[in-house]
Amino acid sequence: MAHFPENDGRTAWRASVLTLFPEMFPGPLGVSLVGQALAAGLWRLTTHQIRDFGIGRHRAVDDTPAGGGAGMVLRADVVANAVDHARREPGAADLPLIYLSPRGEPLSQALSRELAAGPGVMLLAGRFEGVDERVIEGRSMREVSIGDYVLSGGELAAMVLIDAAVRLLPGVLGAEESLTHESFEGGLLEYPQYTRPREWEGLTIPDVLLSGDHKRIDAWRRAEAERLTRERRPDLKRRS
Ligand SMILES: C[S@@+](CC[C@H](N)C(=O)[O-])C[C@H]1O[C@@H](n2cnc3c(N)ncnc32)[C@H](O)[C@@H]1O
Repeated sequence: MAHFPENDGRTAWRASVLTLFPEMFPGPLGVSLVGQALAAGLWRLTTHQIRDFGIGRHRAVDDTPAGGGAGMVLRADVVANAVDHARREPGAADLPLIYLSPRGEPLSQALSRELAAGPGVMLLAGRFEGVDERVIEGRSMREVSIGDYVLSGGELAAMVLIDAAVRLLPGVLGAEESLTHESFEGGLLEYPQYTRPREWEGLTIPDVLLSGDHKRIDAWRRAEAERLTRERRPDLKRRS
């Protein structure tokens, strides 16, 4: 088991990850705002090596699929022992248990908000052909997908979920403002952003943004957000 950071922020939001590759963590979660928040103890990360719960001298974690077919499947007994062990860690008993899986419910901003509002997450990163169905049911795992494509393992998906939730925790982002106008808030994509220089390769910043008239700026941004959403993601508006 590995803890990041070493100091125990007992009440901090926590991510507990079960994986065959704990060395992948914190990885990208250790840099920039999310990494600074980790170092500051605003959230906590623990990894558990599933192989520690493997069977026999070779610590086997997988076996061939019942019914035949290619690949290997993570064993239910091994995964259950890893989950039960992780649950015994202080503060981990009530974490929602999520199996990252391409057939899960799609990760969304709303789900990230829901998870950020709770005590944290316990995440199972699958490998091979996936995980024996019985442990998904037996340990009441919620399945979450990060998109309609297949990754080689659940670790990157776990990192995506953690990043999306942690940046919503109080104190992680500098300006609260930068959250309220983001894409997916209110069922809209974000309006276009510009910065200096005023002219670049003959392209200028829209005049309204330089007008100093905040009412007009807000109206322009709202109209642009609606236009982009209509053009690119009409499904978002219908869902909100
Ligand atoms: C090669 S995939 C297994 C794919 C599985 N045979 C299927 O067709 O659904 C190995 C692991 O990667 C993770 N994974 C792959 N794609 C994912 C996605 N889109 N979202 C979340 N996790 C994913 C899961 O943990 C999965 O157990």
